[in-house]
Amino acid sequence: MELHWELYPQYYSTQTLLSELEDPFYDHLDDVPNKDIIDVGCGQRSLILKYAPLGSRCTAIDVNKEQLNALKNRLESLSVDAAQRVDLISGVFPIVRPGRVDHGLAIISDIFHFMDESEQREALDVVKRFLSPRALLYIKAHSTKHIASSGIDSRIKRCLSMPGMQELADTSGFDCLRIEEVDERRTANDESFIRAWRRRVMEETDGSPSQVEEEIEDYLALGPLITTWGLFRNRS
Ligand SMILES: C[S@@+](CC[C@H](N)C(=O)[O-])C[C@H]1O[C@@H](n2cnc3c(N)ncnc32)[C@H](O)[C@@H]1O
Repeated sequence: MELHWELYPQYYSTQTLLSELEDPFYDHLDDVPNKDIIDVGCGQRSLILKYAPLGSRCTAIDVNKEQLNALKNRLESLSVDAAQRVDLISGVFPIVRPGRVDHGLAIISDIFHFMDESEQREALDVVKRFLSPRALLYIKAHSTKHIASSGIDSRIKRCLSMPGMQELADTSGFDCLRIEEVDERRTANDESFIRAWRRRVMEETDGSPSQVEEEIEDYLALGPLITTWGLFRNRS
């Protein structure tokens, strides 16, 4: 993964990330208590990049310090003021705790499939404690239909179907506003990045040129990523 993150900024500039990031909250912002965000497992590709420059106070949590640093650098390149509005918290959620309890928006994107069901339930219970009543919560995770759900990636513990995600959120006190399953099509830039990354991995591990190409094609043949995403409202 180190090579992955070393190459990542070359293919994904902050402007590229900003142009690609979709905003699930956009249509519901008139009815939120505030636009302050908590992003759990934020990585460096977070909606915080959009909201902090608009004045939102944000909490960014990630177990990986390099990801937090990369997010900080990206924020500073946009605006020093915006970067100062972001509280960067390094550690494993839900063990680490944010400093504020009144966020109006919450994001749990691309980390739930690394948790089992009881860990997912605990994470939702804890995130709820840091939200205002009627706050919005966006969850995105690998779908049960994604090919990597079938044992290919040992880090993956529980992927989510739409009914599975809805039940999880409902029993944690969130009402569903919208839920979808999508094929996340790869862009040409994504494919170039994947090829460059796999090539570097094979070079570093002394793979032969034909083996390199085969590995890359196998990886790309995994097909588009199928994800489940939902938008929920804190019931209390
Ligand atoms: C696949 S990336 C997703 C990043 C970003 N949320 C997105 O949607 O692009 C997963 C991120 O979550 C972090 N992460 C995974 N489990 C975590 C946990 N329990 N607590 C904090 N961070 C976690 C990883 O370090 C990584 O940066």
